[in-house]
Amino acid sequence: MRVLVLDGPNLNLLGTREAALYGHETRASIEQTLRAWAADAHALTFVQSNHEGALIDALHAARGTQDGVVINAGAYTHTSVALRDALLAVELPAVEVHLTNVARREPFRHVSYLADVCVGTISGFGALGYRLALEALIDTLNARRAA
Ligand code: DQA
Repeated sequence: MRVLVLDGPNLNLLGTREAALYGHETRASIEQTLRAWAADAHALTFVQSNHEGALIDALHAARGTQDGVVINAGAYTHTSVALRDALLAVELPAVEVHLTNVARREPFRHVSYLADVCVGTISGFGALGYRLALEALIDTLNARRAA
């Protein structure tokens, strides 16, 4: 399977950013873990941007070139109708991931514009969440192929 792992704003600072909340793992180490898990079975593409339009462009580029998306849209999760519309437009199965348990944080983080257009959400397991999200997505894609 071909999977786009898409990270939104401030996630480039993982490892140093509010480490008590987000942990010490960097995006590079998360990428390494996911690539090791996927081995030769799956092709992973990692994109991060601090810009809403660039994230939307990455989703548009994924149409026809990727089979699914793992997405941590960061703060855009709670604000971006445009990102939601892009996910709907490209018609790719997506799994939403958050390092923190957003349901236990400030009320404005309880709203996700993406959750109901994704297959599901993994939230609160730190960096491990990315591997769980990838596994869930691959499982979903395999089930759809078999159907
Ligand atoms: C986050 C949660 C968001 O509320 C926050 O804005 C982030 C990171 C997470 O992974 O826990 O940037 O998506």
